[in-house]
Amino acid sequence: MNFKDYIRVIHDFPQPGIRFKDITTLLQNGEVYRGAIDELKKLVEAMNIDVIAGPEARGFVIGAPLSYALGVGFVPIRKSGKLPADAIEASYSLEYGKDKLAMHRDAIKPGQRVLIADDLLATGGTIQTSLNLIEQLGGVVAGAAFLIELNYLNGREKLGDMDIVSLVQY
Ligand code: PRP
Repeated sequence: MNFKDYIRVIHDFPQPGIRFKDITTLLQNGEVYRGAIDELKKLVEAMNIDVIAGPEARGFVIGAPLSYALGVGFVPIRKSGKLPADAIEASYSLEYGKDKLAMHRDAIKPGQRVLIADDLLATGGTIQTSLNLIEQLGGVVAGAAFLIELNYLNGREKLGDMDIVSLVQY
C-alpha cells in the first residue's frame, strides 16, 4: 500500500511557505487507515512496549488505534490547561508557533516502556518535549512511531539514538 498517495499536500497553510501534509484524506479511507496502523504495529512490535503516549490532537488518531492493536494502554499528552488532575507541563517550539504540553503526574508508572506515537515528525520539538515529560515521570521511551517524517527538517537528529519508525518520508 502506498500511503503517500493518500496524503494531500496543501501549499501555504497555515502560513506562506509551509507545505502542509493533510492526513484527513488517508484517515477517511478505512482500508488505508487500518493498513497504516497495521504496518506501524509490525514496526513497533519488537520494542516491548507497556504504554503508548500520543500528543494532541493528531497523535491521538495514530496512538489510540495503535494502542488498541497492541493491547496496551494509551496516555494523552495534552496542550496546556486541558488535563483535569495534577499535571506537569513543558514549553516547546513548533515549525510555526509555540505551545505547552502537559501530562498527568500519574500517567506513567516508573520504569514503564513508552512508545510515542504521532502523525508527523517535523522539527522534532513536540517529540523532544514529550520525551522530556515522560522521563520526568520516570518512564523509559522505547521509541517513536509516525505516519510521516519530514526528512528536510532533521527532527531525527534532535532525538539522539531513539528508535524511530515512519511510514512515509518527504
Ligand atoms: C503537529 C503534528 C505533530 C507536530 C510536529 O501538531 O501533529 O504533533 O506538529 O511538529 P514538530 O516535529 O515540529 O514538533 P500540532 O502542534 O500542529 O497540533 P495538532 O495535532 O493539534 O494539529
